[in-house]
Amino acid sequence: MDISDKPPYSGVMSDKYLLGNYTRLPLTVSAGEGCYLIGDDGRRYLDMITGIGVNAFGYCHPRLTSVLLEQSRECVHTSNLVSHRHQRALAERLCGMSGLDRAFFSNSGTEAMEAALKAVRARSKPEKSRIVSLRGSFHGRTMGSLALTGQPELRQNFVFPGAEITFVEPNDRAALQAAIREDTSAVVLEPVLGEGGIYPLKTEYLQLARQLTRATDAYLIADEVQCGLGRTGRYFAYQWAEILPDIVVTAKPLAAGLPLGATLFTEDAAQWLPPHSHGSTFGGGPLACRVAIEFLKMIAEELPGIGERAGQFLARLETLRLRHPVITEIRSKGLMFGIQLSVPGAPIVAAALARGLLVNCTQGTVLRMLPPYIVSEREMDEAVRVLDDVFCAPAQ
Ligand SMILES: Cc1ncc(COP(=O)(O)O)c(C=O)c1O
Repeated sequence: MDISDKPPYSGVMSDKYLLGNYTRLPLTVSAGEGCYLIGDDGRRYLDMITGIGVNAFGYCHPRLTSVLLEQSRECVHTSNLVSHRHQRALAERLCGMSGLDRAFFSNSGTEAMEAALKAVRARSKPEKSRIVSLRGSFHGRTMGSLALTGQPELRQNFVFPGAEITFVEPNDRAALQAAIREDTSAVVLEPVLGEGGIYPLKTEYLQLARQLTRATDAYLIADEVQCGLGRTGRYFAYQWAEILPDIVVTAKPLAAGLPLGATLFTEDAAQWLPPHSHGSTFGGGPLACRVAIEFLKMIAEELPGIGERAGQFLARLETLRLRHPVITEIRSKGLMFGIQLSVPGAPIVAAALARGLLVNCTQGTVLRMLPPYIVSEREMDEAVRVLDDVFCAPAQ
C-alpha cells in the first residue's frame, strides 16, 4: 500500500477503502454555510435534514465557531480522571433544563442509551427483567440499543442475550396497559418517533406511560436523541406532556456537530451507576462541553422562534399536500416533519437533490425534514418550491 502523501494515496476519490455499510447520495461536500451545504463543485444545496438533526443552527454559526476556536486553544481533551469546569457547568445546565439530577457524558446517542440500560439492568432483579419498547422506534446501533429498536429488519442477526423486550404499537393505550406488568423494569420511548417516520406520541399516552411505570416500579426512559434540545419548541419533547422521566437520553445537536451524548438521571436512577460501573475516554471533554454550553444558551434564546417557524413551515407543507394527492399525510411536531407518501420516497429524494434540496427518506415512503432552527421563510419557500417541482415532474 502506498502511504506516501502523493497520488494515488492522496487525491483519489474512491470508496474502495470504506466499509460498505452506507448507501450514500451522489453528493460529495466540502463545506457548509448557514442552511446550505456546499458541494465539491461549488454548488449550494439547501439542507433540510441538518446532518440528521445535528446542525440545529446550520453550518458554521459564528457564535459556535468562535467558542470552538477559543476552546481549542485552551484544551481539547482531558480524561475523566480529572474534572473540568465546562463539564460541570454543562451538567448543571442540562439538569436545570430537564428537571433531572445528574448527567453522564458519552459520544453518541447509542452510547447514551447504553448508560441508561446499564442503570436499568443494575437495578433489576431477575424476575423484573422485561423492557417495553415501541414498534417502529430507533434507539441506536450498539447491541443493547438495538435490542430495543422496534424495527425487526435492523435487529435481525444481532440478538442481545438475556434481553426480554416487549414491543407495543405507539399511541395504543390499551396495548401499553397490557404490556407493562410487575416484571417490567423499564419503558423506553421516543416522545416523537424519528427514524420510525415522525410519529408524535400523544400527551395522554405519555402520561399513561408515566403513571403505569410508577405503579409497577419501572423506570421511564425518554429517548430524546432526535426530538430533544429545542427541536419541538420545548427543551425536551416529554415536557409537552408535563411528565418527568427517570432517565433522559440526548445527543445529536448537543455539541453542534462535535460528538457528545448525555444520559440524564434522577438521583434515584443515578445510584445504580456508582464508581467504576461505567465510563468513557472521550465523553464530556472540554471542547465538546464548552460548545454544548453555548448551544444550550442559544436554544434558550431561540425557543419561542422555533414554534413560530414550525407553524410557518407546516402551513406551507399543508398547501403542498393539497396540490399533490401522492402526499397522504403530513405529521409533525415543532421542526420535525414527516411527509407521508403513497409511493416510494427514494426517487423523490434523488430528484430533489438534483434540484439542490437535501431531504431524507425513512421507512421507504416518508420524506423526513429536520430543518435548522434558523430556517428563514425564504428558505422554507425554496424547499417547498423544489418539492412542488419534483412532485409535478419527478423524472426531470
Ligand atoms: C431517537 C434516536 N435514538 C438513538 C439514536 C442513535 O444515535 P447515534 O447515531 O448518535 O448513536 C438515534 C439516531 O438517529 C435516534 O434518532
